[in-house]
Order: sequence, then structure tokens, then C-alpha cells
Amino acid sequence: MTALPRLQQLLAGARPGWSLEQDFYAATEVYRFDLDRVWRPGWIFAGHTCEIPKVGDYLTLNVDADSIVVIRSAADVFHAFHNLCRHRGSQLCDDERGHAGRLVCPYHQWAYGLDGSLLSAKGMPEGLDRTTLGLHPVHVEEVGGLLFISLAKQPIPFGPTRAAWGALLKPQGLAHAKVAHVADYLVKANWKLVWENNRECYHCNQNHPQYIRANFDHYNADDTTAAIRQQMQAAVAASERKWAAAGLAATHKDTGMTVFPDVAGQIWYSANRTPLVDGYVSETMDGQRVAPLMGDYRDADVGTLRMRSLPNFWNHSSCDHSVSTRLLPAGPQLTAIRVWWLVAADAVEGRDYELAKVLPFWQLTSEQDWTICERQQRGVNSSAYTPGPYSTVKEYNVDGFVRWYLESLRRMQS
Ligand code: FES
Ligand code: FE
Repeated sequence: MTALPRLQQLLAGARPGWSLEQDFYAATEVYRFDLDRVWRPGWIFAGHTCEIPKVGDYLTLNVDADSIVVIRSAADVFHAFHNLCRHRGSQLCDDERGHAGRLVCPYHQWAYGLDGSLLSAKGMPEGLDRTTLGLHPVHVEEVGGLLFISLAKQPIPFGPTRAAWGALLKPQGLAHAKVAHVADYLVKANWKLVWENNRECYHCNQNHPQYIRANFDHYNADDTTAAIRQQMQAAVAASERKWAAAGLAATHKDTGMTVFPDVAGQIWYSANRTPLVDGYVSETMDGQRVAPLMGDYRDADVGTLRMRSLPNFWNHSSCDHSVSTRLLPAGPQLTAIRVWWLVAADAVEGRDYELAKVLPFWQLTSEQDWTICERQQRGVNSSAYTPGPYSTVKEYNVDGFVRWYLESLRRMQS
């Protein structure tokens, strides 16, 4: 069966409330559909503006075989291009980060401006129409220090995301942060398994001993006791007394994870602030602050700011540090994951913070998750794998993610 009829058969066979068939997590054909129908049309988190602070600074990222350059072309202006020359297609920038006055192809030295226009093509005959040979543009948008790209010809509007996130992100000060550490992982699991794991905390009690000490979201409708509810309410009330004055009101005040994605509205992004467990002011091993306050914060007790956007980004920010996670598809069963730890721009390692205290909470939690995902991929690859049912009280967001994903595939068919 050729690829499209096979996809239609798989879509028709998807059972609501159950995990997907093996091919969705393992087959090259489905992975190709994912790239065309989910990744390229969507807004892909690329990195942080603070990674390219000067005009001419750039970063590159790979969305499967498509390498993209994101460059700061003026003080607050960003451009993005496909990372290939319009002459004979050579890759332009080899490095993940760099600086350029102009982008010069290493092959025959065609040179491009920071806006992608072709500036010179020495050795070519007179009369070459340079205006038609600029770099292939990629859409790029910025909100609160976060950079997103879209490979679509006409991407979905970014304005609603900026409107929803702008005010929530501002106090965190990500636009004026610095990267304290980056960790790269090549996780042997389909990107959807990584998301599905991210969308539930059913696994947290057994797999995340550090995370569950700090947070309330591993409690769900079936195990939120009266005592837990009281603790959460007390944490919300105590925080709100401070946050209301600082304009940092909690937007998620319940146990359990906030509902995302919103399938009904096809909302692919969300953000919320939520309290930490009493005694914790930061997602660190002992709950204590480990770096100077970020952004506009004047008090450590600001709970956590959380963001997530499909298909590839989530972030947990505490008062003193912020942790971004980016997924990139690298194969049907391979996901390239980068985790960034950011701190205030003027914080100095050794004086204001120690990596040994900033990193472990999210390093452990992330790596615990990658182990889970790889283990699940191995099981799903078995000839004996069959879809299984989701818990309505603990896996509502996994179900939501799968519905969002299937809807994305179906929408592109029509
Ligand atoms: Fe870039 Fe020839 S391929 S200048
Ligand atoms: Fe987890």
C-alpha cells in the first residue's frame, strides 16, 4: 500500500481514548507525514534571543534534513532562512552559533546580507538577476525573548500567541537572560512519545522523586485528598497575597496538570503560573533559590511560570532560573532534545550561582523522562504491541495531544 492510503487507513482506525498504532510511532512513512503536516506548518521553537545578542549573531537548528539559520539583522529584528546557498545548494553555516557581517557561502563565495538578499556573486556573468536569488526565507517571530520559526508558506497567525504570552513572560526577563548551561540529548524515541510522556504525571510518583517534592500536578482527580487540597489552597492563598500586589497572579490553582492542548480550540500554545509546594521557591533539589532573581521579580516566592507549545517546546521558570526544552525530529524513532538553563544576564558563575545547584532538578527529571521514552519505544516496536487505554483522570492531556495530532494530519488532507 502506498503511503497516503496507508495513512488514511491508520487515521480511520485510530481508537479514541487509546494509544496509537505502532506505525504512528515507528514507521518512516508516518514520520514523513508528521514533518509535512505537523512540523512544517507549525511554529517551531528555535532558541532564545539572548543567545544571539549582537547584530550579525546567528544560530542554526535542524528540523530533520532542513537546516535553518536564525540571525539578528538589526537591534530588534530577526530574519530566518533555509541554510543553503542559492547557487548550487551548499550549506552556508556549519556551526550552531556564529557571527557574520554577511553570510558567505564557503563553496564559491556568493555573499548574502543579513536580510538574505544576494549581495555579490563574483565570477557570474553580467546581467544575473540577483533579486531572484536571495536565501529562501523562513518565517520568524519573537515573544518575550523566545524565537519561533515556521516553514509554512503562510503560517498560522502568531499574534494570538504573542497576546497570550507577552504579559505572562515579561516579569521573567528572558530577553535579558544568559544561558548558564545547555545539554543535548539524542533520544531513541519518536517525538510523539516524548510529548505523550510530557503530557501526564501518572508516571511521576514512581519516576520523578525530585519533581514530586516541589509540585502539586502529580495529584489528580482520583488522589487529591482533602489534606492535599488544603495544602494547595493554602499555597495559592499565601502566594496570591504577594503575587496580586506584584501583578503575578496564579492562573492555575488546582492539583493536576493544566489542560493542554485545547483540542476544541486547536490551541497549540499555553502558559500559566502556579504555586510550588510550601517551602519551595524554586525547582531545585531543596527548593531554595540558587541564583539571583530574574527579570522584574522582587520576591523569590513567585511559584513557577510554565509554557508549552506544539510541536516542540516547554519551559519551567522559577524566580531565579528558567529551563527551556526543545524537541527536534531526527528520525522516525529519534528525537534531538536540547535543554537550556537560563539565569539573569548579570549573574556570574562561581559568585552568584553554582551549576551544581542550578542543574540537578531538571537534569535528573529530564533524563528520567528520556529513559522512560526510550523504554516505551522499545516496547512499542514489538510485534506484540497493541494500543492501550488512557486514564481519563490522569492522561486527559495525552488524549488531548493525540487528538490534536490526528486532527493536524486530517486537516491537511482536506
Ligand atoms: Fe554557494 Fe556555489 S554553492 S557559491
Ligand atoms: Fe516525566
